[in-house]
Amino acid sequence: MTGQPPKNKHRGTPGFLIKFFQLALYIPIQVAFIPFAIVGLVDAIFKEMIISRKLGVSFTAIKALQYRWIMHYFDTRPDPISVAFTKKLPCESHFGLWSTFGALIISQRLFGFTTIFGRVAEPGKETPVSTAGRRVLMFDAIVEKYVDEMEQIVIPGAGFDLVALHFTKAKNTKVFELDQAETLHVKVQTLKDAAIAHDWITYVPVDYSTESWTEKLLAAGFDKTKKTLFLWQSVSLFLEAGTVKKTLREMAGLGAGGSIIAQDLYSKAFISGETSRIVKRSLRMLDRMGEPWKFGVDMSDDPESAVESFLEDCGLRMTEYFQFGEKLGIEPIYCVVEAERLDRV
Ligand SMILES: C[S@@+](CC[C@H](N)C(=O)[O-])C[C@H]1O[C@@H](n2cnc3c(N)ncnc32)[C@H](O)[C@@H]1O
Repeated sequence: MTGQPPKNKHRGTPGFLIKFFQLALYIPIQVAFIPFAIVGLVDAIFKEMIISRKLGVSFTAIKALQYRWIMHYFDTRPDPISVAFTKKLPCESHFGLWSTFGALIISQRLFGFTTIFGRVAEPGKETPVSTAGRRVLMFDAIVEKYVDEMEQIVIPGAGFDLVALHFTKAKNTKVFELDQAETLHVKVQTLKDAAIAHDWITYVPVDYSTESWTEKLLAAGFDKTKKTLFLWQSVSLFLEAGTVKKTLREMAGLGAGGSIIAQDLYSKAFISGETSRIVKRSLRMLDRMGEPWKFGVDMSDDPESAVESFLEDCGLRMTEYFQFGEKLGIEPIYCVVEAERLDRV
């Protein structure tokens, strides 16, 4: 489901002229959208910040879903299921998103006016603000790579990610999604409201800071003799270092031979906001919403070795390593890794 960036429809015309005309066409469209955007923004902020709190739903799970909505409408990753889901999610506003991004979406579609939302950074050229799109595509690729080989997929901290629905329908793979009770409750209800089939997925409510997720997973039917893909996408940064290590050691101990743990890790510099002012500003918002970033790996010196030894400390051997922004020579911000159990090598 990897989308392609829009093609340049204006070969031969100087770039600055094209940009000028695109901007001239975009501005009146954006102006026409302003009244809707005001109403829509109020609706979106109310739902994302007030209703989510009332329902006890993870704010960051909503934000992660929002990026998938954006990717769909800006043609970088088709995702009609996430759009249908967003329309019924009580703590997000489809209208709010459309009224905010509508002028840019229309302008991109009509005359190729492309902004950061319509581009996915080239592999290795991600910056702190363009990480989101590449991250989603990389995890899609990981699921696609393993879906036929693995007998089980476990997604701890699944939030509103619908990747399992995309890739495991009509397959023999057993899927378990874990998250906090309220977030999962809203997810399942929204799937029902949106008439999205999900009956082959087992939802396991758990707070792994305070409860044993392994006990809950086993009680839900997880089979330790089966080859398993664990998918831990953008969750570890919300946990204390001790919980991250404990959870990874438990994952290492759970799956049968050939199991894979795929996850992302953020650098200490990134989560402290040192690498980007935009990221720094969002830290205050995350604190206010009760989901501060807590865990990052010190990647300041030889990031690959730092990540490798962190994983070894958790009983894992790194098998794949992909560092975002590596080709730009910027301070390490983020990586996606795959690992297998150390003592099975
Ligand atoms: C940024 S969201 C990522 C969601 C999903 N993996 C994705 O990529 O869309 C982080 C998720 O971790 C979950 N999470 C954070 N702390 C947790 C905990 N202690 N127990 C269970 N889930 C937790 C949140 O509820 C949220 O859904």
